[in-house]
Amino acid sequence: MCGIIGYVGHRPAVPVVVEGLERLEYRGYDSAGVAWEQLGQLHVLRAKGKLSALKEKLADSPAVTATCAMGHTRWATHGVPAERNAHPHLANDGTLALVHNGIIENYQELKTELAALGYEFHSETDTEVLVNLIAERRKTEPDLLHAFAQALREAHGAYAVCLLDVAEPDTLLAARMSAPLILGLGTGENFVASDIPAFLPYTRRVVFLEDGEIVRATASEHGIFRLADLTPVEREAQVIQWDMQAAQKDGFRHFMLKEIFEQPRVITDGLAGRVAHPGDGVVLPEIAQLPVPKRLHVVACGTSYHAGLWGRHLLEAWAGIPVQVEIASEFRYREKPRFGEGEMGLVISQSGETADTLAALRLMKEQGLPVLGLCNVVGSSIAREADAVFFTQAGPEISVASTKAMCSQMLSLALMALHWSERTGALDAAARKERIGLLQSLPALLDDHLPQMHKTARELALKYAQAANFFYLGRGHCFPLALEGALKLKELSYIHAEGYAAGEMKHGPIALIDPAFPTFALALDDALFPKVKSNIEEVQARQGKVIALTNPGMELATDDVWRIPYLPAPLAAFAALPALQLFSYEVADYLGKDVDQPRNLAKSVTVE
Ligand code: M6R
Repeated sequence: MCGIIGYVGHRPAVPVVVEGLERLEYRGYDSAGVAWEQLGQLHVLRAKGKLSALKEKLADSPAVTATCAMGHTRWATHGVPAERNAHPHLANDGTLALVHNGIIENYQELKTELAALGYEFHSETDTEVLVNLIAERRKTEPDLLHAFAQALREAHGAYAVCLLDVAEPDTLLAARMSAPLILGLGTGENFVASDIPAFLPYTRRVVFLEDGEIVRATASEHGIFRLADLTPVEREAQVIQWDMQAAQKDGFRHFMLKEIFEQPRVITDGLAGRVAHPGDGVVLPEIAQLPVPKRLHVVACGTSYHAGLWGRHLLEAWAGIPVQVEIASEFRYREKPRFGEGEMGLVISQSGETADTLAALRLMKEQGLPVLGLCNVVGSSIAREADAVFFTQAGPEISVASTKAMCSQMLSLALMALHWSERTGALDAAARKERIGLLQSLPALLDDHLPQMHKTARELALKYAQAANFFYLGRGHCFPLALEGALKLKELSYIHAEGYAAGEMKHGPIALIDPAFPTFALALDDALFPKVKSNIEEVQARQGKVIALTNPGMELATDDVWRIPYLPAPLAAFAALPALQLFSYEVADYLGKDVDQPRNLAKSVTVE
């Protein structure tokens, strides 16, 4: 939810930290701050609002020469977005500064305990409680490492934290529990951060910290310790293959637009090594060793949940596997009957860090269900905790609104369905070959049509951007797309939008239709087209305006008809998805909204 970074090395540390925060801003952007030591004193500079506000303050401050510093970009959990709640937080005696991503659930009890000892609090945050708890434990523990560990053992909840001590200003202490934290190993410099792009210009050598681990880093050394007993942990560094170019805008106005246009490449990469010739089948070493599930329990949030809903159509129709799809935050608190023999969990998450999805994974594992993770981020918590993991190959997704990740998830689900279809015999070889050929044709088809789709999206956006409400309707495999279209519109443009199963409209929602309440209908060339068409007519009969997303040759008399290239269902979704994304993008951009960082959101939702 928040982004943290710590740097220790030979460079001026504050600029390195601020640059890292720029690449972590997708995790939260309601305030930001940095801390460093100079002349025997800890200095903290914080600002409400985006990182630019902090940068302005820094520009007005005297130059900082420190070679160790840490920073934070915040998405508020405890306390309103305000400078007093921004991180880093100082202990009362000014000797320690802390940045934190996560939630300390028992912070009120700890606060009461500390208040009784005379501590004062200047913010509403749990972080200020934690830094004072460390200061208090330091009075009785042999050294800061022990005090840090002891305080963290008393804190319940999720955290990735980084600590600076005025007495050892060239040492970073950091720890993680249910929130991401990665150690970056440079030459004569080291980093800790919530995500790899924060330090990617400086090093690709990384160590993924596990839950319940502490790291102590200086410019030349690092040590990892178990939080429970401070025993050392040996862990090999890994070398990350992607580079900074993958995390830049490449001339596009926004990351979101770049990521929409990356979808042909995402499909090419997702097929590489998995499909060679259509007749050869699908090679998926990730799941080849696992038995074919008798039933699949798919759990995810947001856009990943929509990908799961879409995937159900293929997994059931192509592979003959019964599938249940559930929102993670509901799944985890529902009393479930025990899972049956031979069943499997499938958790879908771009970030691999979504708290509810991670909790659902743990719950399924506790109940003896083998769990497959479908993730984009290598080294993420879900990728590490799942029994097997299938990586989506989308590359870093920076825009808060998820686009190419969904495309990559859909492709992965299609590949899984094809792989399992071979083993269940639910599809014959010819049908499989035809579908593989279609998947292979997608990159060229999208490359050809995305520019025109973008143009049409812009024209329609100009016409409809003033609407206060929108319906998105679809049936069958287009219903999850209707949900996704509505989610994209509301999160980017703040226009109220509802995704609905088209056949369900007449059971109530149609009462909302009037000339000012437009509908975006997915009316693709598939078996359900006649049904959708009559649902559209029901809307038009109530003077509702309709944009119909359809294919060449389909007869429709709506206010706007947007024709995209034909693909057979359910693969038609690969062409419909970018149209929905581009429409939302253009509406939001036209309205002057912050496309890559919409208000109130964070890229990675690591709190429940
Ligand atoms: O990283 P995940 O795929 O687990 O994230 C799930 C949702 O938080 C995410 O898809 C969210 O709904 C996006 N804002 C959608 O654009």
